[in-house]
Amino acid sequence: MIEKIETLLDEIKSLSANDEKEVEALRIKYLSKKGVINDLMTDFRSVPASDKREIGMKLNELKNAAQEKINSLRENVRCHDENACALDLTCTPYPVKLGSRHPLSLVKQEIIDIFARLGFAMADGPEVEDDWHVFSSMNFPEDHPARDMQDTFFVEQHPDILLRTHTSSVQSRVMEHSQPPIRVICPGRVFRNEVISARAHCFFHQVEGLYVDRDVSFTDLKQVLLLFAQEMFGKDTKIRLRPSYFPFTEPSAEMDISCDICGGKGCSLCKGTGWVEILGCGMVDPAVLDANGIDSTQFKGYAFGMGVERIANLKYKIKDLRLFSENDLRFLEEFTAAN
Ligand code: PHE
Repeated sequence: MIEKIETLLDEIKSLSANDEKEVEALRIKYLSKKGVINDLMTDFRSVPASDKREIGMKLNELKNAAQEKINSLRENVRCHDENACALDLTCTPYPVKLGSRHPLSLVKQEIIDIFARLGFAMADGPEVEDDWHVFSSMNFPEDHPARDMQDTFFVEQHPDILLRTHTSSVQSRVMEHSQPPIRVICPGRVFRNEVISARAHCFFHQVEGLYVDRDVSFTDLKQVLLLFAQEMFGKDTKIRLRPSYFPFTEPSAEMDISCDICGGKGCSLCKGTGWVEILGCGMVDPAVLDANGIDSTQFKGYAFGMGVERIANLKYKIKDLRLFSENDLRFLEEFTAAN
C-alpha cells in the first residue's frame, strides 16, 4: 500500500490542467467520495494494526498534497496574469475623494422641491431656440423695444435662431402641446449678451413657473410666492410686490423679500431699503395664451421667473457672480457639507 501511495504522490505532483473543467475532473478523480484516495481510505481499514501508524501518516500526506495541488491548479487557470493576481480588486480605494454638488445645483434643486410640493411638474426645452418661442409667442412684437430688455445672442447668419434669453420659451413649448390645467416649472440655463462683472454674466440660470386654469387669480400667485419665499428664506420672510412691466404678463410685478441680513433695518445688500428683489411675475397676458393655442376667454394664468444665481447669492451671501463659473475649488468645497 505504501508503494501505491508513493506512486500516487508522484503522479499528483506532475498534474496539470488548462481550465476549470479539467481541474474539476482531477478533483473528482482524486478527492471525491468515489475518488482514488477515498478508495485507499477504505482499504486502510484492513491494514494490520502494526502498520496503521505509518500508512495512516502517508495517507494523510497524500490527501493534503492532492488538495494543495488542486487548489493551486485552480488558482492558475483562474488567473494567468501573475501581476493581476497580486492585486486585490475587491479592495476599497482609499482615501476616497468625494466631490460636492455645485451651489447652483443645490439651490435649483431646492427651488424645484418647493414647487414640486405645490404640485408643479417639471418641463424642459432647448437652449438654442427660435425667435417664435423666445419672443413672438411671448407677445414681443417684432421691432418692439421690449426685445432690447434682453440682449440676445443670435446664431450667425440665422437671425431667427438664438440662445434663449429666458426659460419662458419652455412655457410656450408646454402650452403649444397641452391644454389646461397646466402647472409647470421650467428650470434651465439662459444667455444674455452682457459684459461679465460681479453682478452680471453672459449666461445664468432661471426657474420660471406657469399655472393656467379656469379660475386663476393674482391672489393665488401671491400666496404661492409667499409660501416659496418662506420655505426658501425662513418662515419670518415677508414679501412685497411692486408694479412692473413684462410683455408677456399683465398686470406685472417684481417681488422683493425682506432683507434677511439686516432683518429689514437697512444694510449694504438691500442698499438701506430693507428689501431685496428676487423675481418677476404677473398674470399671463391673454395674447400669450391665444398665441400658444389656449382659449383666453376660458382660461387664465399666472407666471413667474427667478434667477437661480440671485437666490443663491442671497441664501449663501455670495457677492460675486463670477464665482459660480470659475471652478475655484476653494469656493466649491465650501458646499460639501450641504450635500
Ligand atoms: N422671463 C422673465 C425674465 O427673464 C421673468 C418673468 C417670467 C417675469 C414670468 C414675469 C413672468 O426676466
